[in-house]
Amino acid sequence: MDSREELKSRLHRIEDMGGPSRVQRQHQMGKWTARERLAYLLDDDTFEEIGAHVAHRATRFGMADADAPADGVVTGYGRIQGRPVYVFAQDFTVLGGSLGEMHAAKIQRVQDLALKSGVPIIGLNDSGGARIQEGVDALNGYGEIFKRNTWSSGVIPQITVIMGPSAGGAVYSPALTDIIIMVRRTGQMMITGPQVIQAVTGETVTAEDLGGADTHLRRSGVAHLVADDDQEALDLVRDVLAFLPQNWMEEPPFLESADSLFRADDGLPFIIPDDANKPYDVIRIITAILDDAKFFPLQAGYADNLVVGIGRLGGRPVGVVANQPRVLAGTLDINASDKLARFVRFMDAFNIPVVTLVDTPGYLPGTHQEYGGIIRHGAKVLYAYAEATIPKVTIILRKAYGGAYLAMCSRSLGADLVLAWPTAEIAVMGPEGAANIIFRKDIEASADPAAKRMAKAEEYRVEFANPYVAAERGYIDAVIEPQHTRSHVARALMVLYNKRDERPKRRHGNIPV
Ligand code: HXC
Repeated sequence: MDSREELKSRLHRIEDMGGPSRVQRQHQMGKWTARERLAYLLDDDTFEEIGAHVAHRATRFGMADADAPADGVVTGYGRIQGRPVYVFAQDFTVLGGSLGEMHAAKIQRVQDLALKSGVPIIGLNDSGGARIQEGVDALNGYGEIFKRNTWSSGVIPQITVIMGPSAGGAVYSPALTDIIIMVRRTGQMMITGPQVIQAVTGETVTAEDLGGADTHLRRSGVAHLVADDDQEALDLVRDVLAFLPQNWMEEPPFLESADSLFRADDGLPFIIPDDANKPYDVIRIITAILDDAKFFPLQAGYADNLVVGIGRLGGRPVGVVANQPRVLAGTLDINASDKLARFVRFMDAFNIPVVTLVDTPGYLPGTHQEYGGIIRHGAKVLYAYAEATIPKVTIILRKAYGGAYLAMCSRSLGADLVLAWPTAEIAVMGPEGAANIIFRKDIEASADPAAKRMAKAEEYRVEFANPYVAAERGYIDAVIEPQHTRSHVARALMVLYNKRDERPKRRHGNIPV
């Protein structure tokens, strides 16, 4: 065989991966192969493979004769919407996509190149975990990957798609990346599987209930996005990347929009109900602000009392954080605090301004919250906002009480500009609670305590629960007409675009975790 034929034959074998029967089984499970996934994800004819000929060098447990094309992972680089990316895709058809020494080395190689080049990296995971036959070499491979995930954090965007099993310590590489997208029914993440759980705790649970996409979207908060199949998951990768810069030193991508920055929304002044205890959907306000009313929520389904997500304003990506009065009255709890803090740090790492919409009666009361460490988790919110140097614009829509007023990017915590709707109420606590405390003696002495309480609450509301006391002190920069919110925020961000802000030099902060 001449040298060109040898290359052709070797590549043919590698293209085949686990062979027709295993590929057929993969398709029967509703999954694509690694190569099919990369072909769909990347722009046409842009994929350049690295390490196609890499082979394992394990000999024990029958591995000496085991043929493992590409050692079960396809690695390389290509383009998405014209922008370079590094990729790796584990192939379940080869030894169950299991991770051995050389498989891990291939992933580390693209991680190193992505970090050096300042280019995002996307991992498509479909693996039985550490290759059992390779023992400690496989474990060491994971450690090397985790280390690189950590070093790349905040330098380049890292996106993971869970398209098959991800078990044991293998879940921690995805968990160290910025975004996890999971495919329903086929993608599962768990530290210990159903059998181990049954043996140790006696609990019975299916793999999907334990570690499926909806479990991690709604219960654990591990997943940011879920998809019904491989195709939809890969579309989501492209959607997310469109908002992100190539690395921390670049600006996020601009996308021209025909939507006028001066577009008024005459419905906005009527969104907030007259009754202060009635809810409304804050998404309606978010979409009124963003270009073409397009909002891309993250972790929707988890801690829905807080909404986070990305959109564009004047063509530039902007992160949005908003209390959601429809769920738990928009209170901040442990999960919402974690969700908020991680999102603000993600935006700050990649130069994306944050707009915060405030309507919260405070932190959620209860022993469950206190014992669960709301102090520690709530502190992350303060830390994330105070640490962030991106442009920060806050709009107080209605309630901004007590600690939650401060936490939701108040002036004192570092907001560059604080706007308020005329319906804003800034106070240490709600009028009823305040009246109960400061007018307790008056109320108790009254012939009609209920009526007295109402009157005193109203007195407090008129005095404090409005935007003007805070505006007089300069804690609020402007009280705006709700229908013009989009143009006010757009103008604010335009002048803040070149903002430069420094923090004291140090090794690193010590965020409460
Ligand atoms: C070697 C593996 C493997 C593994 C699967 N295979 N997992 N080979 N090491 N970890 C092989 C199988 O032997 C089989 O080979 C092929 O992949 C397909 O696997 P099946 O079992 O036939 O597929 P399926 O029925 O779909 O089940 C998938 C699975 C199951 C649920 C993932 O294979 C499984 O439970 N695997 C072990 C999972 C595990 O415990 N991994 C270690 C986790 S601990 P053939 O030749 O028959 O096609 C870990 C530690 C990391 O990862 C620590 C980091 C700090």
